[in-house]
Amino acid sequence: MSKSLPSLADLQQQHQAFIDAKLSLDITRGKPSSEQLALADTIDGILSGNYKSSDGTDTRNYGGLDGLAAAKALGAELLDVPASQVLVGGNASLTLMYQTLSFKRMFDERWKGDIKFLCPVPGYDRHFAICEELGIDMINIDMTVEGPDLNAIKAQLEADSSIRGIWCVPKYQNPTGITFSDACVTGLVELAKQYDFDIFWDNAYAVHHFDPNDVDELLSIWQEAERLNAVDHLWCYASTSKITHAGSGLAFLAASTTNLSWFKARLGIASIGPDKVNQERHIRFFTQHTSLEQHMARHAAILKPRVDCVLNTLSESLGHIDGCRWDTPKGGYFITFYGPEGTASRIAQLAGEAGVKLTPAGATHPYGKDPKDQVIRIAPSFPTLEELEQAMQVFCVAAQIAIAE
Ligand SMILES: Cc1ncc(COP(=O)(O)O)c(C=O)c1O
Repeated sequence: MSKSLPSLADLQQQHQAFIDAKLSLDITRGKPSSEQLALADTIDGILSGNYKSSDGTDTRNYGGLDGLAAAKALGAELLDVPASQVLVGGNASLTLMYQTLSFKRMFDERWKGDIKFLCPVPGYDRHFAICEELGIDMINIDMTVEGPDLNAIKAQLEADSSIRGIWCVPKYQNPTGITFSDACVTGLVELAKQYDFDIFWDNAYAVHHFDPNDVDELLSIWQEAERLNAVDHLWCYASTSKITHAGSGLAFLAASTTNLSWFKARLGIASIGPDKVNQERHIRFFTQHTSLEQHMARHAAILKPRVDCVLNTLSESLGHIDGCRWDTPKGGYFITFYGPEGTASRIAQLAGEAGVKLTPAGATHPYGKDPKDQVIRIAPSFPTLEELEQAMQVFCVAAQIAIAE
């Protein structure tokens, strides 16, 4: 049953009251809250002057381009791949992605000139920014509840031989929270092999559930790629950015033996080795202080009330209003709101006027252009619960005004 909206005059009055309150709230980026960051504070000082890793490496020195064995094992656990295939980078998986695409663009003949990437939408703006920066054209592929639309991908591949890659956030996707189905994972590997393109598998939210007793399972793409003899088409990424400290975590890349040695040959020119002291800090944290599972359960306990706050406010204020819907993910960092076509920019503008910063409408699509102007990504992690409650009240009034107009 559709619920009628309050009158536009009433809504405008509420909006004015928010403006008068001079709010300054931000639900734009998926940053962990201070409370979450504090969960990992023990990492600071955990080495207590002992810099030797369990294999005898003096972590303070140069070297070890692909990382300490135990740090690789941590990456392997996140990525569901063999530890032998993991390289441990600096603090940002985004850097590893940027390096992979840059190296490809510079040193791989098939990646020169006019090439394209498939971009599931809505998706992660920083993936799109990398393509834009490197002059790689982007093609929108709609997300379905099972992951990117495989039929649409196939149609593009049939029509265009310049497609070299696809961006995927396979678990609790940014921003929809969707986890790819088994059929989608297998289908992607089959297509990559058949049409000779690479899958950029950014598993940023592999262990980021809202409730440890209610989680999505993701089929191991590594095992599927091995079974189908297609591992050379796969580049996998993860990091501890939203596990320990976002600004000083560890990033991981996993790839086939051929791809990894190719990547290392390029990386070895740019670096003598990564920060192994930080690797050792992470290893000790997850062996001496807590387990990954326990630690993520603590994150979940902080995130879940915030996610519930967003979902409950949306249901109360916008439930049953024609054209409004949102995803209800089991993990990740975002909730995606879909308004009626042509309303997203106006909602963001109205919320901004009332002191609530939203991710710019369009940011979830390549070139910042959402063709239907209907998607807004809500990031509930950073503000306090009280701030989030206020921000969501403003959001819902802004959405109602945009719809009423
Ligand atoms: C899908 C996805 N990948 C990567 C990142 C950034 O990861 P890192 O901090 O490891 O660069 C984010 C951060 O929001 C993300 O949402």
